[in-house]
Amino acid sequence: MLAHLVEQHLKTEKNFEKAALKALNDVRGTYGIALQYKGEPDKLIAARMGSPIVLGLGDGEHFIASDPSPILPHTKKVVFLEDGEVAVLTPGEHRIFKLDSSKVMRAPTEIDWNAEQAQKGGYEHFMMKEIMEGPEVIENTLRGRLIPEKGMAKLGGLESVAEQLEKIERIIIVACGTAYYAALVGEYMLEEHAGIPVEVELGSEFRYRKPVLNERTAVLAISQSGETLDTLEAVREGKRRGALTLGIVNTVGSTIVRETDAGVYNHAGPEIGVASTKAFISQLTALGLFTIFLGRQRGMSEAEGKEIAKELKRLPAKLQQILDTKETIEKMAGKYVHARDFLYLGRRYNLPVAYEGALKLKEISYIHAEGCGAGEMKHGPIAMIDKDFPTMALAPKDSMYGKMISNIHEIKARKGPVIAVATEGDTEISQLADDVIYVPQTIEMLSPILNVVPLQLFAYYFAKQKGLNVDRPRNLAKSVTVE
Ligand code: G6P
Repeated sequence: MLAHLVEQHLKTEKNFEKAALKALNDVRGTYGIALQYKGEPDKLIAARMGSPIVLGLGDGEHFIASDPSPILPHTKKVVFLEDGEVAVLTPGEHRIFKLDSSKVMRAPTEIDWNAEQAQKGGYEHFMMKEIMEGPEVIENTLRGRLIPEKGMAKLGGLESVAEQLEKIERIIIVACGTAYYAALVGEYMLEEHAGIPVEVELGSEFRYRKPVLNERTAVLAISQSGETLDTLEAVREGKRRGALTLGIVNTVGSTIVRETDAGVYNHAGPEIGVASTKAFISQLTALGLFTIFLGRQRGMSEAEGKEIAKELKRLPAKLQQILDTKETIEKMAGKYVHARDFLYLGRRYNLPVAYEGALKLKEISYIHAEGCGAGEMKHGPIAMIDKDFPTMALAPKDSMYGKMISNIHEIKARKGPVIAVATEGDTEISQLADDVIYVPQTIEMLSPILNVVPLQLFAYYFAKQKGLNVDRPRNLAKSVTVE
């Protein structure tokens, strides 16, 4: 439509820029576009309304993308367009103006991800590289933010709203996809350890349900890209209704970062694989920090703060231990590769991990996988169990262990194969489950950070053995900037 409209205006304007601007002034709606005209092939015009546009400023060359990652191998200097702005690029210059033709002056942002970081670093797929980066990602998310001797967290991005946060009575976390499952873990963390009521909402539902909010509510968006339109619209809805808006976002300078009042960066580096892995680890780590931060404002003891801080610092080494056993998981994936369905079971902190494990398998293997609260199994999913319907059971030695074991008994009684993710040294479970993946012990609130990794590896090897395109699964996009 836009292309035809520009063509229409070219008939009278005879000038690409003017015709493009006229066309953009004619339309309503959401777009993030790049235009090129065969009469002026050295010129690109980009415009943003709702969907992100990033310009890359190189040496004698310029770039347009919807996210900085593909630009980084060429230049680190980027300019983020705002809604209602148009950019004209030629190899030698860039100009930005508004839809009413007034000029916009904006200094470029330097992105400190290097080109190599944005490449595969020797791995066959970005997804594997990103899973393997887990320990480093936790360190980067934690860097400079823990005060272990005081059991506190220092989050620079929240300092400007620290006082307001003390008065907050409720948090609503909004997110989509993997970030939504991180949010569900955050709900357990914040309610149990910071004593604050939390609700989690899908970005795509929030603004359609007339949420009741006030200035004592914080709306916290979690997003890797910072550009997911549904999450962004949820933030805008929160703002309209007077809430404090916060973000846990990975992409520096993205729209959610710019539109929220304050926030925490993930510092996970670029994530290229469409199936999110390291961003999830980092989101959970940031939620752990946020829990200490808020908790210590409202009655968390110093001892408890210290305990969580100490465990957070131990996570990278523990995660590395899991990664070192990846060949075992590869073999296991081979054993189950012909299954057409999978049940993922978890409870409490590990229920969102079950959802996320199932999502990973669905995204890249295209087989049916279902995440289910172990307590809900008896209300339906158990009917599906038979010898061809395997279950991945998250059964670490925590407060839910006994219940999980009884679920596994029920599945085995119906001849369902079981792979258990269990705590190191648990010999009981190896008598019961067909296969066991062992994970080091940590405190319950942080256990999802470790337990999800075997599930990511399992999905990766499963899809790889099926010969599928792990990094670019069909029908999916990395940044979903449309409704
Ligand atoms: C897409 C991606 C998912 C991601 C979700 C939310 O569906 O494929 O991996 O979890 O969007 O993205 P965000 O950037 O907001 O975390």
